Amino acid sequence: MSAYFVTATGTDIGKTFVTAGLIRYLCEAGQRVHALKPVVSGYDSSVVETSDPAVLLNALGRAVSADEIEHIAPWRFRAPLAPDIAAAREGRSIDFDALIGFSRAAIDATPGILFIEGVGGIMVPLDARRTVLDWMAALDIPLLLVVGGYLGAISHTLTALDVLAQRKLKMAAIVVSESERGTVELEDTVVSIARFSKDVAVIGLPRLPGGLNQHPAFAQIATHL
Ligand SMILES: Nc1ncnc2c1ncn2[C@@H]1O[C@H](COP(=O)(O)OP(=O)(O)O)[C@@H](O)[C@H]1O
Ligand SMILES: [Mg+2]
Repeated sequence: MSAYFVTATGTDIGKTFVTAGLIRYLCEAGQRVHALKPVVSGYDSSVVETSDPAVLLNALGRAVSADEIEHIAPWRFRAPLAPDIAAAREGRSIDFDALIGFSRAAIDATPGILFIEGVGGIMVPLDARRTVLDWMAALDIPLLLVVGGYLGAISHTLTALDVLAQRKLKMAAIVVSESERGTVELEDTVVSIARFSKDVAVIGLPRLPGGLNQHPAFAQIATHL
């Protein structure tokens, strides 16, 4: 069993897209794969199909049923806000210890490869005291850091790498998922980040046309799992 935490420099960067592409690649390669998206904000139960858990379940070839969603994404909040704020809007909160317990139980129980998609960026608050960083540190599993290819992404990435190194978190790979309407060459971003990433591989994933979730970059990322 090996588990990876998929995190990013921010929201809407490509965590789900990269995780779904990796799931498809690994399944086709005959590997056992599972994925969790424990905390979801902006979850609209009337348009479930586009939600992160649904995208992951589709990639896993599993039914997008209420049961399956409850299993992989137990903390779902309606407001498209940081999870602590979205939870508070519903008079709820995220029980950090329960979140760690849920994640650890899945890590221990899952054969093959498990991806745990975080929420937002590396320091989005989960409650008044803890952020995603504390979640990742408690699990202590290698990270897949997904970053963008927009102007400014290099600084955001190096800031993230510095914080992750301070907490001594292990990195499996960094994926630069090319941003929409980018003015920056993907390869320039990859080369620049790689200069600062020590021995951690940096892999560029081009902006793929709508609906397509297959590219040789996924095989390349998989070599680092
Ligand atoms: N390399 C890419 N090619 C095409 N679309 C992408 C790519 N990376 C991200 N996207 C799209 O960008 C949007 C945000 O990505 P998503 O994976 O949902 O971000 P996150 O999970 O980090 O919030 C989604 O619509 C996703 O399909
Ligand atoms: Mg996502």
